[in-house]
Amino acid sequence: MTAAVDCRGVSVRFLSERRSVTALEDVSFEVAPGGFMSLLGPSGCGKSTLLRVVADLITPSEGSVSVLGTTPQEARRARALGFVFQDAALLPWRTALQNVELPLEVGGRRSLPQGAASPRELLKLVGLSGWENSYPHELSGGMRQRVAIARALLGGPRLLLMDEPFGALDEITRDRLNEELRRIWMETGATILFVTHSVYEAVYLADRVLALAAHPGRVAAMETIGLPRDRDLSIRDTPEFVAIAARMRAHLGHGAIH
Ligand SMILES: Nc1ncnc2c1ncn2[C@@H]1O[C@H](COP(=O)(O)OP(=O)(O)OP(=O)(O)O)[C@@H](O)[C@H]1O
Ligand SMILES: [Mg+2]
Repeated sequence: MTAAVDCRGVSVRFLSERRSVTALEDVSFEVAPGGFMSLLGPSGCGKSTLLRVVADLITPSEGSVSVLGTTPQEARRARALGFVFQDAALLPWRTALQNVELPLEVGGRRSLPQGAASPRELLKLVGLSGWENSYPHELSGGMRQRVAIARALLGGPRLLLMDEPFGALDEITRDRLNEELRRIWMETGATILFVTHSVYEAVYLADRVLALAAHPGRVAAMETIGLPRDRDLSIRDTPEFVAIAARMRAHLGHGAIH
């Protein structure tokens, strides 16, 4: 079975006139098709850089990356990737529905692939039925992130890349969206690569967690999360969850942030 993401010995160096930064050094990992992997680590350890390498926004200095059995560039061109940023990045003059429809217009492809969910169905999937005609300023931060997720799901991407999508939200909203994201993941069957610096979020969401250490960004640990596939937030109170979270924190050292 071809991995959804296969990174082999990836290094990324940023060179400027003043200095050179090794953002990633010799990072290797695989994500199975339909898997959910969290990328966990402190600020500056290269999480966004790694996601950008997979998304074909950065070319690695060394190593190779294959996405859905092809190059990141091919995967992007085939519209097999969806990207959700930390900030929802919606266009304020367009309604929720028009924001979800946006990729259809900018990509020059006006129709969806056969069988793909419509923008309206995607808003329903993220719990926003009835809000189609609202503008971003009329929505809460959590609702705007849901619109951004619906937009990233347009066209049925097989790989969803999420860069701290809930980082700016309060804890209660983040908890709710964490539960919804697991439901969406199971309903769509997409592979998800999810960046966070919260140990709890990383462990709750994923079936595997890649912990990164900083300066230079490198793999600190890879853990398979042996929690049941059907889980709700109360699992965070179980001894199993607490033990995994403690182990992850130990991998990260004292620099870890909740
Ligand atoms: N375009 C760039 N040019 C130069 N240096 C960069 C660039 N992008 C990232 N870096 C550097 O690479 C390192 C990793 O940055 P990155 O944004 O990937 O970290 P991160 O883990 O996502 O951090 P955060 O949790 O704060 O978002 C940092 O030292 C950063 O300064
Ligand atoms: Mg980042």
